[in-house]
Amino acid sequence: MVCCMYRDLPLSFFNRVIGPVPVVLISVGYLKGKRSIMPCTSVAPISLTPPYVGASIAKTRYTCKLIRELGDFVINIPTWNFTRLITELGMVSGSEIDKFEYFNLTPLKAKKVKSFRVGEAIAWIECCVEKSLSIGDRVFYISRVVAVYAREECSYDFGVKWFSEKPVLYLGDLLFATGFAEYYRCCDVVYRR
Ligand SMILES: Cc1cc2nc3c(=O)[nH]c(=O)nc-3n(C[C@H](O)[C@H](O)[C@H](O)COP(=O)(O)O)c2cc1C
Repeated sequence: MVCCMYRDLPLSFFNRVIGPVPVVLISVGYLKGKRSIMPCTSVAPISLTPPYVGASIAKTRYTCKLIRELGDFVINIPTWNFTRLITELGMVSGSEIDKFEYFNLTPLKAKKVKSFRVGEAIAWIECCVEKSLSIGDRVFYISRVVAVYAREECSYDFGVKWFSEKPVLYLGDLLFATGFAEYYRCCDVVYRR
């Protein structure tokens, strides 16, 4: 029997208990005109076949409003060298400034969606919203994945070659970690029935 002392935590800490979680940059809007980009840690794969992803975005975010208007967005995958920028992008709203111009980022045309993508990212997932659920202070956008691609130098047959890049993980409270330090592949597990 396992018996140990434990400490109750505030319910709002549940996401920190799950963490660390990956950080992505969600871009939405037009190449020229209304647009925004925001760091997001609430992105989750929902279905693999067919591919669906969910993104939970606070109703107060300009990004939330633009996704509702346009019906699509791009998930841009940043790397460790983006960490400071990620924090800064999360401190201002696209309703006040054009974050692309302000932070000198490169908006590029996406393949299948109207929203643009971020040129500085290493991989991109294009998403078309099919359903939205209003839950608490958030809207959960359930979206069909319509295109996935990565930079040549960090992609291989089955995905992004994280071993050459440091992915950004988030612990909460503006504390970041990289998942680079330790990894192993469990290919020698024997399943017992
Ligand atoms: C690391 C990090 C993760 C974040 N994750 C989320 C998230 O999952 N959902 C959300 O609504 N806001 C999240 N935010 C906050 C938004 O990125 C921030 O409010 C941003 O400025 C919104 O920009 P907008 O008003 O242009 O949409 C996060 C911020 C940071 C720094």
